[in-house]
Amino acid sequence: MILDRRGCRRVQHLCIVFFLVFLQFRFVSIPNMFQYPKARRDESSVEDYHGTKVPDPYGWMEDPDAEETKEFVDAQNAVTEPFLDKCSVRKKLNERITEMWDYPKYSCPSKKGDRYFYYYNTGLQNQSVFYVQESLEAEAKVFLDPNALSEDGTLSIRGTAFSENGEYFAYGLSNSGSDWITIKFKEVATGKDLPDTLEKVKFSSMAWTHDHKGMFYNRYKEQEGKSDGTETTSNVNQKLYYHRLGTSQVEDVLCAEFPDHPKWMIGAEVTDCGRYLVMMISEGCHPVNRLYYVDLQALPDGINGVLPYIKLVDNFDAEYEYITNEGTVFTFKTNLNAPKYKLINIDLSKPEMDNWQILVAEDAKDVLDWAACVNKNKLVLCYMQDVKNVLYLNDLQSGKMVTQLPLEVGTIVGYSGKKKDSEIFYQFMSFLTPGIIYRCDLTQEPLKPTVFREILVKDYNPALFETKQVFYPTKDGTKIPMFIVHRKGLKLDGSHPVLLYGYGGFSIAITPTFSVSRIVFMQHLGGVVAVPNIRGGGEYGEDWHNAGIKEKKQNVFDDFQAAAEYLVKEKYTNHKRITINGGSNGGLLVGACVNQKPELFGCAIAQVGVMDMLKFHKFTIGHAWTTDYGCSDEKEGFDYLYRYSPVHNVQEPNNGVQFPAMLLLTGDHDDRVVPLHSLKYIAEVQHKLGNLPQQTNPLMIRVDTKSGHGAGKPTAKVIEELTDIYSFIVLNLGLEWRD
Ligand SMILES: *[C@@H]1O[C@H](CO)[C@@H](O)[C@H](O)[C@H]1NC(C)=O
Repeated sequence: MILDRRGCRRVQHLCIVFFLVFLQFRFVSIPNMFQYPKARRDESSVEDYHGTKVPDPYGWMEDPDAEETKEFVDAQNAVTEPFLDKCSVRKKLNERITEMWDYPKYSCPSKKGDRYFYYYNTGLQNQSVFYVQESLEAEAKVFLDPNALSEDGTLSIRGTAFSENGEYFAYGLSNSGSDWITIKFKEVATGKDLPDTLEKVKFSSMAWTHDHKGMFYNRYKEQEGKSDGTETTSNVNQKLYYHRLGTSQVEDVLCAEFPDHPKWMIGAEVTDCGRYLVMMISEGCHPVNRLYYVDLQALPDGINGVLPYIKLVDNFDAEYEYITNEGTVFTFKTNLNAPKYKLINIDLSKPEMDNWQILVAEDAKDVLDWAACVNKNKLVLCYMQDVKNVLYLNDLQSGKMVTQLPLEVGTIVGYSGKKKDSEIFYQFMSFLTPGIIYRCDLTQEPLKPTVFREILVKDYNPALFETKQVFYPTKDGTKIPMFIVHRKGLKLDGSHPVLLYGYGGFSIAITPTFSVSRIVFMQHLGGVVAVPNIRGGGEYGEDWHNAGIKEKKQNVFDDFQAAAEYLVKEKYTNHKRITINGGSNGGLLVGACVNQKPELFGCAIAQVGVMDMLKFHKFTIGHAWTTDYGCSDEKEGFDYLYRYSPVHNVQEPNNGVQFPAMLLLTGDHDDRVVPLHSLKYIAEVQHKLGNLPQQTNPLMIRVDTKSGHGAGKPTAKVIEELTDIYSFIVLNLGLEWRD
């Protein structure tokens, strides 16, 4: 276990740990290697859940503005930062990640009006720049550069929408990674900023009416107190508004609200034909929605009040996503009696369910991931087949497949193409391919997708690595797919450091994507990257998702733990060499797995995790997650949540086992999963284990400032964070750098 050529420092460092521990056994007064801040335990803070008294000694950390909370955060960072600085290859890590990151990144071009738009990042720019072109061959000009809006890159674009003719542009701006956005407007031809500004906007639709006079959007008008992303106030009573260009926000028209249902959120979309507004109403994260619509042409006074919406589906039995319509015949993607999804047609003139038609039936094996209408009468269908994407072109009238578009093994990460346009662009990515953008002209016979742009990373050779997919049995025998990526010619001798990444929730599929830091880990630290597609995700449709929610959430943790056991059994690694990693719901995964089976892992990195499962629903948008987690307000929910909630299940392990080295990460502007989750969990972990003689592994937290849940994070901050994460892994696993 040596770090690098000057790695003896690492060996010495380890010796000091052992020495101190040895002493500590005999003279209890000698402090442990790490002096964690002492967090006040408020023993009087106890909550009663259905007759069970549950202490909440760190309840005071729920106030992000309290001095005591701020001091706790500063004191934690003051322990973590100097520790990370001890990593002797920290500089190398940072340099190599930065060097590799510095490659040009493009998005698919997208046609709006007569112009093309795309995002481009020269390499290390904190935010990608939005470019405009008069044609694909024309010179590209900067249309909107978020880097020019803030010195440190912490203002980012979140959501954009062009008016139908491409004349006007609306965009959301997020500050420091918060979910709150301010919507601003531009005139496209001149690039001129318009004075219109929309505030208190969050989780918003942006849907222009085709007269290009205004836009539907969502806001939380009644939200009280500050709304800058550092608050924890619950987001309820979202409303749908219409903003007319050139007017002030106070004049905006309230179009829909549901005061009897504070959790409802209103997704709004204007149909391809421009005649209808479709409202997809959801109550949480489960893929189900009510389906209302409005005939905008039938409004006698235009949009001037609460809209007379018609209820097509008024229950939460299934999801209905608008794809397109031909007159009154609407095509929806749905999971109604189809956990792997299908397309159906509903004719508004005979809306009864008996008249609904199946357009593209559910597949027996593959999940219909998304669908888009293109070239008037064609559909692009993207399926997921054992966690790899497959693309088809189908006919809109008959639903029948026209052709399959060739694709390597990997993921479609970007798409553009519209009903009125005959060309499509799609961007492919995989563990070893940074990105290929294809263009396909649908008027051509036969179809010939061509490479429009290939993204290249300098000094990177994909031929050094290999990817495979295995299927391992989990605790109940279910076969779980897992991608394993590493250098070619790896000897299976049980010695290699593994980064085991998981998520397992909310029907989200973890598909192959390119990651610079993982390439660095594989190339220079001898690492193996393993990504198991555990239950709770959407890899095999809704059945896979439902097998990992509420009272079945333990399946998710079992699947992840079984992945670690498989990798040891197959001699990739040993338990001490495994780092587990996940963010958000995946942070919960990491916390729960460390609590349950600390002996399986050497290191654990939990980013922006959900850790207090008894209270998550009380803060910001947490109430939307009860669809996956259940809720402690109900006795049944309390019973299964209390069994695994990371904050409530920290125990000193038996037989002198210690916790893996643990690093939690969060940011002061994370208003998706508020920082108090990580703060409470680290306080509890340090309280229970921090002073045990056998606990030589560090238990730490890194709290960033001007930083949110992840989206829109400036490149400089992303690289800093990755450097810290890998430094922590290197230090604790004693990894050696190879050039
Ligand atoms: C990105 O932002 C950081 C501060 O967060 C700044 O130091 C750096 O110069 C910026 N990078 C670029 C390429 O502008």
